[in-house]
This record gives sequence, structure tokens and C-alpha cells, in this order.
Amino acid sequence: MNDPALPARTLAVLLGEWRGSGIAYRALADRIRLLILDGRVPSGTRLPAERELAERLHLSRATISAAYRDLRERGVLESVRGSGSVARINPARLAREPGGRPVLLDLARASLPAAPQLPEAALAAARALPRYLDADSDPVGLPELRAAIAARYVAAGLPTKPDQIMVTVGAQHAIGMVTRLLLARGDRALIEHPSYPYAHDTMRSLGARVVAVPVTAEEGWDTAEFVRTLERTSPALAYLMPDFHNPTGASMSRETRQAVCAASARQGTVLLIDETTAELNIDRPEPPRPFAVDNLSGAEIITVGTVGKTVWGGIRLGWVRAEAGTIRRLVAARSRSDLGTSILEQLTVLELFRDYDAIIALRGRQLGDTRDAVESFLPEWLPEWSVPHVHGGLAIWVGLGRPESSRLTLAARRHGLLLSAGPRFGADGAFERFLRIPITSPREVTETALRALAASWRDLEEGAS
Ligand SMILES: Cc1ncc(COP(=O)(O)O)c(C=O)c1O
Repeated sequence: MNDPALPARTLAVLLGEWRGSGIAYRALADRIRLLILDGRVPSGTRLPAERELAERLHLSRATISAAYRDLRERGVLESVRGSGSVARINPARLAREPGGRPVLLDLARASLPAAPQLPEAALAAARALPRYLDADSDPVGLPELRAAIAARYVAAGLPTKPDQIMVTVGAQHAIGMVTRLLLARGDRALIEHPSYPYAHDTMRSLGARVVAVPVTAEEGWDTAEFVRTLERTSPALAYLMPDFHNPTGASMSRETRQAVCAASARQGTVLLIDETTAELNIDRPEPPRPFAVDNLSGAEIITVGTVGKTVWGGIRLGWVRAEAGTIRRLVAARSRSDLGTSILEQLTVLELFRDYDAIIALRGRQLGDTRDAVESFLPEWLPEWSVPHVHGGLAIWVGLGRPESSRLTLAARRHGLLLSAGPRFGADGAFERFLRIPITSPREVTETALRALAASWRDLEEGAS
């Protein structure tokens, strides 16, 4: 099969303002390398032919050739006979940066280490397994687990029956299934801006026309503007993260929830509510409650959840909550591509649910500890940045004051620090003024990373990059 091709036009948009004062081929290679390393140009993508890219960027073919050569030497590009230049990361070459420093610190990913309760739960699941060995794999999930997930919604104030739950292979799988079921090429899909990048990628890959509503760390959602956008565009689907939105950490007020539900009901928009981060509560005055509780207008809501953020990203288990009829349609569509979630993992999560509130409380403490560290160190070390206060979630969406996020991300690699540049969370190169700083690593690790971050910023200011 041929590798997917990236048109020169698309690459030019992803590159944004890449030209600096240095040598052109090097600056271009640096920026493309970043796009490959943070996944905006996925591994396996065929880059545009040299001539095509030269024309699009108004550069000489020799400059593009030199940039591609540089990328090959630095282990992110391969020449494949008959396919041209294909993005492919060579981990052996990545272990050390061009300056010779080892890669040490990761502020690019936002995931907590595995919950300490996990190994015990996995052993208990293995002991329970023999009772399930004559069960067939089932695309909707084990009845006991569906009942346990439904019971958690009921306890949180949202009446839910087990037949309204489908167990999935994580929330990302759930988002993929729901969007494939509901979106056809050319449909409008509404997302928040910034947003979780893979949801956006999924909608784009289905050929949806994406409509964006802004969310900020300080102000959250502008309700009136949001409702106007819904009314003007009538999207088939709106993908929202109302609790501890990733990356801003904002949470939606009850009034906004009700207004969004009312407008969606009028426009026939299905709300896909991602509650992946909803349980990551540090100290929000009101405890999070399921979004669908505030649906007073009969909007169609499909909710996705996961244990990927609370327990561990390596447990691939999430779920969909929807009307029973929607669950049946999802199950019918699912069987064409996969046959269900591993029974051993379902049993592990069933075990974990016995003490799930303790896991959630621990997460709140861990996240709070690191949030406090970020809130105390950053204003001291980088006083010109704005650091919004978050009550939970995975990260702090920091304002840099200048559109330098991509350059900072490159400079940081020389200090052994991995970052996700702000534009990773937006469309068409937006959010160069922002950086997502995860609060998921231990406080000490984060402190070391922040020192490297401050040093990287100084390098930029002194023109060392
Ligand atoms: C907002 C959001 N939704 C979905 C996911 C994917 O979750 P899972 O690991 O359960 O597939 C993530 C993971 O980073 C996320 O941040």
C-alpha cells in the first residue's frame, strides 16, 4: 500500500511562520522535524516532492533538497524507492539531540503514572478469569461491567441503564466509532478551539467541515457566541469537553450547558461529550457532574468516558453512554471492524471500580501537588508568562505573551525537554502564543523540566536558537 501523501499546500499551512534569521534550509528542516516529532505529520506520511514544495514556498529546489537531506541525517525522514520521502522516526537517532544531550524530560505527554491499585486488580481479574472462559467475545461488553459503569452515572445523578452502555477500547476508540456513525463527508462538525488534537484529526479525516468555537483558560466558553455559531451552522455533531477541558482546564458553567443543550435540540445537533478528564478534580468548588444531567431540552447526547486518565493509559478501556437504540447501532457498526474489548481488561476494571473513589482522590492529590509547583515556580522563573489557575484536568494552558511556541519547543529539545507546541491543539497554525504544561508528572520531575523550560526561553531571548 502507498504511504499517505501530504499535499504541499497542507504542509505550507502546518509550517506557519517558520522563517527565522538563520539559514533557510535549516529553519525549514527544524520546523518539519517538529511537525513529525509531535505527530502533526504522522509517521508514514509521504512528504511533497521537492519541486512541488519549492514552488509552494517560493524557494529554490536546492533549499528543499538540503532540508530533506538534513531531516534524513537527523533520523526523521526516509527515502523509500518509488514513494519519495517518507516521515519516519528513528528512535536510536532520537535518543540524543544534535548537540549530543540525551532526551530526558517529557512535558509533551499528559498522562499520570499507573495507579498503585492496578497490579492487585489485575491479579484478582486473572483469578476471576476461569469463570468467563466459556463466554464468547461480545462487542458491547461484559454485563457486570456495563452495570457497574451505569451505576456510577446513577450515583452521580444521571439515571442510566446497563443497555445504555457500550464498553470500548478507550475513549479515542469511542470517539472514532461515534464520529464514523454520525458524520458523513461534507457534514459540519463543531469543535472547541483549542481541542484534543486526535478528535479534530478524526473529523477531518472523515471529510467533515470543521466549525470552531473558542475556549479560553480564563473565560471558558462565550455562551452567546457559542449558541449563535450552533444556530448559524447547524452542525451534525458537536464534540465538547465540558469538564477540565483539554488543554485549557476550563469547566463549563451550568447556564452554558443548558443553553448549549437547548440550541442543539433546536438545530438537531448531536452532542458528543468527552468526559475523559472529568474525574480529574483537584479542588473545584462544585464536584463535577455528568453533562447530560443539565440536558433539560431533550438534546441527543452521547457521552464517552475512560479509565485511561484515572487508572493508566496502558489499560485500553473506555465506554460510550447513549440511548439504547444508539448503542445498538454502534454495536452493529463495530462488529465490522473489531469484536470487543479484552475480557481480562474488563475484569480488571471491574475490580478497580470497587475502590475507584480512592483512585480518583489520589489523582486529585497528585495533580494538585504538581499544579501548585507549576503555579509557584513559573511566575518566579518566567514572570512574563501568564499562568491561569486550574481546579483540575491534565494541564495548564500557559500564555507566552509572544507567538514563539514552536520555536520554544525546538529550543527545549537542546535541553533534553520534550514539549507539545500550542498549535498542536489548534487548526491552521493557531495558538503560537500558548504552551500546554502537563501537571501529570511528579512535582520534582516537573520542577526539573520547568528549569529546562526557563533555560530554553532564555536561549530564545538571547537569540541562541
Ligand atoms: C480529551 C481526551 N479524550 C480522549 C482521550 C483518549 O483516551 P483513551 O486513552 O481512553 O483512548 C484523551 C487522551 O489523552 C484525551 O485527553
